[in-house]
Amino acid sequence: MNSAVIVLAAGRGERLGGNTPKAFAHLGGKSLLARALEGLLSFPGFGWVQPVVSADDLDRYAALALPRDRRLAEPAIGGAERQDSVAAGLAALPGEFDLVAIHDAARCRVEPGDVAAVVQAGEEYGAAILAAPVRDTLKQVDNGVVISTLDRRACWQAQTPQVFHRALYAEALEKARSDGFLGTDDAQLVERLGMGVHVVPGSPGNFKITLPEDLALAERLLLAEENAR
Ligand code: CTP
Ligand code: MG
Repeated sequence: MNSAVIVLAAGRGERLGGNTPKAFAHLGGKSLLARALEGLLSFPGFGWVQPVVSADDLDRYAALALPRDRRLAEPAIGGAERQDSVAAGLAALPGEFDLVAIHDAARCRVEPGDVAAVVQAGEEYGAAILAAPVRDTLKQVDNGVVISTLDRRACWQAQTPQVFHRALYAEALEKARSDGFLGTDDAQLVERLGMGVHVVPGSPGNFKITLPEDLALAERLLLAEENAR
């Protein structure tokens, strides 16, 4: 199949705070978005890499130092919700791409080996996600009181890329739209069609930069990697 990847960078990054939208915040002197794009471009299987940014950030995007790669498309303009941004990215993909990967720019440390594994599973099964097994015991809590203990072995933390046959994902997105359903990831939309979503174990290092401490951790990991070289 012909694979394309949508790279979501149109959020504001409210929880990270700071003066720049999250995707344009720096990690080791380079923006999260530039890092994510470089990581995805290093996977040769993608024939199209589609960034999605906010209309307010087009100047910031133009100022990024990005690899010269003909697979890197002009940015699409995102929407108010993550799901709207995915829809904008999907609409910008040429028709020949029938396998679509969706990735959060905030997961800027994604590894090419994980990308290859989830793309392969997505092609084979129709829907596949990277996910990490949960390490802690999980409690369901209401008003500060534990209601139950979940079976940890059954719980995984969803990551991106998430990869789908394009026609299947388009159907899932359309159903979510007509039902007024907003998901926090893309697999949820496909699950709502009753389709199985295949899980590929991802690296713990593929965490999403959400809070200031996540950025601080990514900085420490980067330093450690540079020192180890
Ligand atoms: N995203 C997007 N369009 C939106 C909302 C989010 O493209 N309307 C993207 C973000 O840029 C991010 C990814 O979706 O790369 C995951 O979202 P999240 O981590 O929630 O990022 P933000 O929405 O930017 O952060 P916050 O929720 O803290 O404001
Ligand atoms: Mg958000």
